[in-house]
Amino acid sequence: MKPSYYLTTPIYYVNDKPHIGHAYTTLACDALARFKRLDGFDVMFLTGTDEHGQKVQKSAEQKGIDPKAFTDEVSQNFRDLTSTLDFTNDDFIRTTEERHYHACQKLWSTLLAEGDIYLDSYAGWYAVRDEAFYAESEIKDGKAPSGAPVEWVEEPSYFFRLSAYQDRLLEFYENNPDFVAPKSRFNEVKSFVSGGLNDLSVSRASFSWGVPVPDDERHVMYVWLDALTNYMTAVGYGQENGDADYARRWPADLHMVGKDILRFHAVYWPAFLMAAKLPLPKRVFAHGWWTNEGQKISKSLGNVIDPVELADRYGLDQMRYFLLREVPFGNDGDFSHSAMVHRMNGDLANDLGNLCQRVLSMIFKNCDATMPACPATLEDADTSLLNRVDGMLERQRAHYDNQLFHEALKDAWDIVGEANRYVDEMAPWSLRKTDLERMAAVLWVLAETIRQVAIVIQPVMPTAAAAILDQLRIPEDERGFAMLGAGNRLAGATPLDKPTPVFPRFVDDEGEGA
Ligand code: MSP
Repeated sequence: MKPSYYLTTPIYYVNDKPHIGHAYTTLACDALARFKRLDGFDVMFLTGTDEHGQKVQKSAEQKGIDPKAFTDEVSQNFRDLTSTLDFTNDDFIRTTEERHYHACQKLWSTLLAEGDIYLDSYAGWYAVRDEAFYAESEIKDGKAPSGAPVEWVEEPSYFFRLSAYQDRLLEFYENNPDFVAPKSRFNEVKSFVSGGLNDLSVSRASFSWGVPVPDDERHVMYVWLDALTNYMTAVGYGQENGDADYARRWPADLHMVGKDILRFHAVYWPAFLMAAKLPLPKRVFAHGWWTNEGQKISKSLGNVIDPVELADRYGLDQMRYFLLREVPFGNDGDFSHSAMVHRMNGDLANDLGNLCQRVLSMIFKNCDATMPACPATLEDADTSLLNRVDGMLERQRAHYDNQLFHEALKDAWDIVGEANRYVDEMAPWSLRKTDLERMAAVLWVLAETIRQVAIVIQPVMPTAAAAILDQLRIPEDERGFAMLGAGNRLAGATPLDKPTPVFPRFVDDEGEGA
């Protein structure tokens, strides 16, 4: 049986249309999910929508629609991203589904039975935008540390005994040094926990848009306790006949989140699970935030980037490449038109695009439109290039397992650069006049390099990679990672069609980039 790999995106608030930030988190997971499938794993890739709480309820009220109808509509916008951005999630969970109520109520009852939930009353600050409680000491100039407005809340509330978990959390972090990445973010988590933890209010009594607390209908569960549970709902927790799936999938291999919601995933979630005596997720990765041409992205500034418009303008694979290549994963990044065009025309059109077009055109013209055979003897330059290519999978695995997407792409493009230099040095156009056999050998080495590069970039650029592999006439069932390396060389004698360029150059209205 294939090993399981379970990864999740955060579930998105349905108060608004999807924007680039949402697309970014899901894209990173999509690339990783595709990578793991190609590498022989049985992948479960989950995304979905977070539909309860005051923030969503208020957005529905502003539109004058009842929250259920409102969430149905907005959730669909997120679901549509799957097809428009070519995401391959295996499930899409909504927290308003019945299956999720079962899971939340089971977890609640377990926490109660363990003695970690008690009834008291809450008096303190709450930021609806973050759906988070803040201590007095965190409030500056009447705002939360995130800049969100806060309001004073006083109401009866159930509490989770978070304070009792400080030492156990710190010990867990100590024993699991890869639990949170990047390292700098892990240090922030540790210092937050070392500073002491207050018990956490886990129910609200002043509104009703949430999962009812079992046996106390006056309360709904705090939206973050509800939301985090989604990761277990989707793999069978609390479901009739869900045990086998749960046993196979849980704990999750990776929760991918943005840096703003790390505390919920790396502190509260593990504490809930410890209290319920359930296994903890293996890793949480907190990525950075995008700005637009140097400015914070916000609705009030009117500079929100719509990922679908971006894909329409530059091309879907081009956008996917840019977002994962431009910024070291984990850092903040800036989206700019000029950076996007630079990557498109440089890395894609010039480097990989030209390599493919040059090599395939030469084979088409000079080898009778037929792939040359694997050469009987290789020269040092050939072996040196092929050795780099054959070592790619091992390096890619290390990068993907650390969520270093930019490094994985850089490694593939280093090979593209080396292959372009090899073309120039070997000058197959000259060999055509002097040594046809050597020309065919050089072109085969290049085609084999392109084959492996195209296989490796499938997770990020599925359509473009498929177009290249189609032109090389690689059958669809020979595109998995088992076909990488020296064991399964590109076969010769395959007839080829006249090649067509895979990566168009971006030309501005003003002609820039032409
Ligand atoms: N509903 C919660 C998550 C619950 S998970 C159990 C939530 N939703 S959200 O819709 O507000 O945000 C979802 C993700 O989008 C977060 O990971 C957040 O970091 C990410 N982004 C929102 N704006 C972003 C940018 N400008 N750039 C990159 N990612 C950003 O939080």
